[in-house]
Amino acid sequence: MVALAPLLALAFLAASAHAADPFAFFDWDVTYMTASPLGVPQKVIAINKQFPGPVMNVTTNYNVVVNVLNSLDEPLLITWDGIQHRKNCWQDGVLGTTCPIPPGWNWTYNFQVKDQIGSFFYFPSLGMQRAAGGFGGITVNNRAVISVPFDTPDGDITLFIGDWYKKNHTHLRKMLDDGKELGMPDGVLMNGKGPYRYNDSLVPDGIEYETIKVEPGKTYRFRVHNVGVSTSLNFRIQNHNLALVETEGSYTMKQNFTNLDIHVGQSYSFLVTMDQNASSDYYIVASARFVNESLWTKVTGVAILQYSNSKGKASGPLPDPPNDEYDKTFSMNQARSIRMNVSTGAARPNPQGSFHYGSINVSQVYKLRNEPPVIINGKKRTTLSGISYSPPDTPLRLSDLYDKKGVYTLDFPTMPIDGPPVIRTSVINSTYKNFLEIVFQNNDTIVQTYHIDGYAFWVVGMDYGEWTENSRGTYNKWDGVSRCTTQVFPGAWTAVMLSLDSPGFWNVRTENLDTWYLGQETYIRVVDPNGGYNVTEMVAPDNMLYCGLLKDKQKAQKPHGSSSSSASAAKLNNYLLVVLVSLLALALGH
Ligand SMILES: *[C@@H]1O[C@H](CO)[C@@H](O)[C@H](O)[C@H]1NC(C)=O
Ligand SMILES: *[C@@H]1O[C@H](CO)[C@@H](O)[C@H](O)[C@H]1NC(C)=O
Ligand SMILES: *[C@@H]1O[C@H](CO)[C@@H](O)[C@H](O)[C@H]1NC(C)=O
Ligand SMILES: *[C@@H]1O[C@H](CO)[C@@H](O)[C@H](O)[C@H]1NC(C)=O
Ligand SMILES: *[C@@H]1O[C@H](CO)[C@@H](O)[C@H](O)[C@H]1NC(C)=O
Ligand SMILES: *[C@@H]1O[C@H](CO)[C@@H](O)[C@H](O)[C@H]1NC(C)=O
Ligand SMILES: *[C@@H]1O[C@H](CO)[C@@H](O)[C@H](O)[C@H]1NC(C)=O
Ligand SMILES: *[C@@H]1O[C@H](CO)[C@@H](O)[C@H](O)[C@H]1NC(C)=O
Ligand SMILES: *[C@@H]1O[C@H](CO)[C@@H](O)[C@H](O)[C@H]1NC(C)=O
Ligand SMILES: *[C@@H]1O[C@H](CO)[C@@H](O)[C@H](O)[C@H]1NC(C)=O
Ligand SMILES: *[C@@H]1O[C@H](CO)[C@@H](O)[C@H](O)[C@H]1NC(C)=O
Ligand SMILES: *[C@@H]1O[C@H](CO)[C@@H](O)[C@H](O)[C@H]1NC(C)=O
Repeated sequence: MVALAPLLALAFLAASAHAADPFAFFDWDVTYMTASPLGVPQKVIAINKQFPGPVMNVTTNYNVVVNVLNSLDEPLLITWDGIQHRKNCWQDGVLGTTCPIPPGWNWTYNFQVKDQIGSFFYFPSLGMQRAAGGFGGITVNNRAVISVPFDTPDGDITLFIGDWYKKNHTHLRKMLDDGKELGMPDGVLMNGKGPYRYNDSLVPDGIEYETIKVEPGKTYRFRVHNVGVSTSLNFRIQNHNLALVETEGSYTMKQNFTNLDIHVGQSYSFLVTMDQNASSDYYIVASARFVNESLWTKVTGVAILQYSNSKGKASGPLPDPPNDEYDKTFSMNQARSIRMNVSTGAARPNPQGSFHYGSINVSQVYKLRNEPPVIINGKKRTTLSGISYSPPDTPLRLSDLYDKKGVYTLDFPTMPIDGPPVIRTSVINSTYKNFLEIVFQNNDTIVQTYHIDGYAFWVVGMDYGEWTENSRGTYNKWDGVSRCTTQVFPGAWTAVMLSLDSPGFWNVRTENLDTWYLGQETYIRVVDPNGGYNVTEMVAPDNMLYCGLLKDKQKAQKPHGSSSSSASAAKLNNYLLVVLVSLLALALGH
């Protein structure tokens, strides 16, 4: 569904200063669809009738235009994890920056994948919707002039792994609202499909599974994303090495793994060479981590790797998960071993490593501490530093633009405070070009993955115990990997550093859907005192939606009928308009 059209692109000159770069257009209809990934029919969220959604395959610096039609019965926002939206938080697709797209309406995102490469994914950011689908890959290819630190693979394979419930997202939401636990997931899906029947007593008959077809001797790049609700997964391919080469936009020092833990929200690229003898198909496995495996056997995703000359089905037991029952540092050591290749380029030819983050003076330090769920005002909530975030009706960024006071407070504490937990719209106060050190301290009993929108951060350290100033002695100040998510193990901390080179409001959250839904997030407000709006920050887009305190500014949009003929008529009109504006732009001498 990609259309590259430099001529039409001119129409967007007004909205974007980057018209010299190519455009990629996408038209997405987001609907419910019935699927039975675990043998039980349920409503999933599909994009253009695809579940998972289509892979957005673009190249560094492309301008991406996505017309999203919300055909669900509830509000929708799509967020683009890892896409930096430099100076343009308007396109970030979270409640702090944008009003949700009402049911039946459409809204067009317009952003540039500036100076980025790598493997990311998009998903619906509101109310547990990702637990029903709506996710898909974002592959940002390098420009042809940039060399890559490995030979061009023979193929590119995107794989979504994630825990899955037979209950739909509204049901899961209700359970959380009622203070219940979601409990053990019903399975792990791979590319929206249930497990291969590797064991007749564990997997029922008739479940559709994913088959990845490959040619012997070739090397493929597998882009693996954990899009699940809350389960850390161990990923492995029977008899095959996983050569890790990239994570969330950074090339890593290439290294072989037989298995790797992939936490919720994380993305990795592996090169996998088809160097086995094809005596049979091979298992691709994603199994739950840090749980009682004899109780969680069904929470295992199994797909099939099939050589074109395969001589038979995969059989026998699955490849073993790591045997680390008594070694809680195994997974952490795996994570620590992932290093950035500082001698290679990424989006630019100059080595990323020339940015010596380790020698920059830190301007602000924040320690964000989460705890097991607490009861606040009779409701079960989760917190960061004692504060459970409550999303306001008016997006934070819009409230600033229109000078509406009282929507949020700028008092997020630098260090966790003792005292009763509160529900509040409390935001981190920061300044353009500040260099931040953020320590995530996990006091809960499950792994959380933290993510910051709009930025990549350097993961400089992680360890068990309570972080103290002395912990800085262990930091990796040279080749820590720069990425947009990091796991924080229970009873442990992870420290990251980031350079605030982009004004706006940027979401800081756990990627675990249940704890996020219950309040574990905040925003960083980045203000440029000397530049600001229309200088170092892009102006709000013309198609801005208004809501909350600003809802009177919103013109009604006639909800679209679901009939395909009216949709294609609308598309045609849209197209004609674009052509017209392009001609106009040409006439005006652009
Ligand atoms: C979700 O499930 C609940 C009850 O289990 C049902 O009432 C509701 O209609 C379902 N919603 C969707 C969108 O399928
Ligand atoms: C993605 O785009 C790149 C560059 O345009 C192209 O080489 C590649 O074949 C595309 N991949 C897929 C899966 O379409
Ligand atoms: C690091 O990048 C360089 C330059 O592209 C490449 O030659 C080298 O093989 C890479 N090293 C590793 C360990 O991946
Ligand atoms: C299937 O799984 C069950 C339960 O874990 C186990 O007892 C049995 O040995 C397995 N069967 C095979 C053929 O591996
Ligand atoms: C990684 O595994 C491949 C085979 O898949 C092998 O050729 C290569 O030497 C291994 N690299 C390292 C560093 O062990
Ligand atoms: C192929 O590999 C299997 C498993 O590694 C091995 O048992 C078998 O002997 C091999 N066959 C050939 C023809 O090399
Ligand atoms: C795991 O669950 C099994 C079955 O309920 C139980 O027998 C076993 O003690 C549990 N193991 C641990 C380590 O809790
Ligand atoms: C960092 O701070 C120290 C002491 O305040 C100062 O001497 C040094 O020049 C600063 N370095 C940079 C790169 O700003
Ligand atoms: C936010 O930070 C700026 C710059 O450090 C400071 O001037 C301002 O007073 C702070 N605002 C609040 C409410 O703390
Ligand atoms: C959580 O914090 C309490 C109080 O500081 C401490 O006793 C406990 O060990 C911590 N638990 C974890 C999992 O970090
Ligand atoms: C932004 O700056 C441009 C060029 O200086 C100006 O034409 C435009 O009106 C400004 N827009 C806003 C919303 O301030
Ligand atoms: C979507 O939005 C655009 C611009 O606001 C409009 O022209 C178009 O007709 C809308 N409808 C559909 C179905 O895309």
